[in-house]
Amino acid sequence: MTETRPRLACLIGWPAAHSRSPLIHRYWLRTLGIEGGYVIEAVPPDDFRDFVLRLSPRGFVGANVTRPHKERALALSKPDARAKAVGAANTLWFKDGELCSTNTDVEGFVGNLDASAPGWDKAEEALVLGAGGASRAVLFGLLDRGIKRVHLVNRTRERAEALAKQFGDKIHVAAREQVTELLPRAGLLVNTTSLGMHGQPALDVDVGKLPANAVVADLVYVPLETPLLKAARARDLKTADGLGMLLHQAVRGFELWFGKRPQVTGELRALVEADLTTT
Ligand code: ATR
Repeated sequence: MTETRPRLACLIGWPAAHSRSPLIHRYWLRTLGIEGGYVIEAVPPDDFRDFVLRLSPRGFVGANVTRPHKERALALSKPDARAKAVGAANTLWFKDGELCSTNTDVEGFVGNLDASAPGWDKAEEALVLGAGGASRAVLFGLLDRGIKRVHLVNRTRERAEALAKQFGDKIHVAAREQVTELLPRAGLLVNTTSLGMHGQPALDVDVGKLPANAVVADLVYVPLETPLLKAARARDLKTADGLGMLLHQAVRGFELWFGKRPQVTGELRALVEADLTTT
């Protein structure tokens, strides 16, 4: 039977937060000429299970999931290795009628680096700052791409220790005081903390100590150019910014729901940048 209904996906969150996902997915639907839609669904925690289990009868081919539902989404679906490693699912889709999940932050992080700093994975050692949810996606991506040694630094050391235990002996937990001596060895520096975000203090890291061929990635995207990225660019280091990761993480969901792999274009980036600066 050929499907005649336009395909519909949604973002499930609570409360309904302002999100750029509708802008991104509708841009791709429009430019690829696909009949479909992407809407925001505000679903309180008590209703989440029912909503997800009845996703298909409600007319959805899949969904993005955001706070506070990402862990529940993982438990209610068949997660892939990425979602399992991150401990949270942000994308749901159906495969042969079964509800599957993944975490597209991994692909967003890696895809953005591939696009912004090709060859980044030649780095022998990486230095990752922060050990929250986003850091898990980053660690999975780095190990998946063959980075041999990852130094992990976090304000709360125990959280870093827990991630090292989960991800294995390529992760080396270091103290905040060791950052200065680790910088000259780091071919890749990644900020997964909220430092540098609008309203937060800047990250206190001297990019001048990084090797000349180092790549600097920041997951923060408000502001678009964080003090860390600004300092890295002033030194002519290659950079990958948080907005790029946000755009690249949307690629996989779109492909799973609508059947075509979309491109992160300059036009899309400009559209989302304009939205970020006006809201
Ligand atoms: P996310 O899902 O975005 O990773 P998170 O799980 O809340 O969010 O993690 C936030 C990260 O930023 C953590 O590594 C946190 O450090 P702690 O584990 O010590 O809380 C880090 N972070 C937030 N504010 C910070 C600050 N003022 N100084 C240093 N690190 C900070």
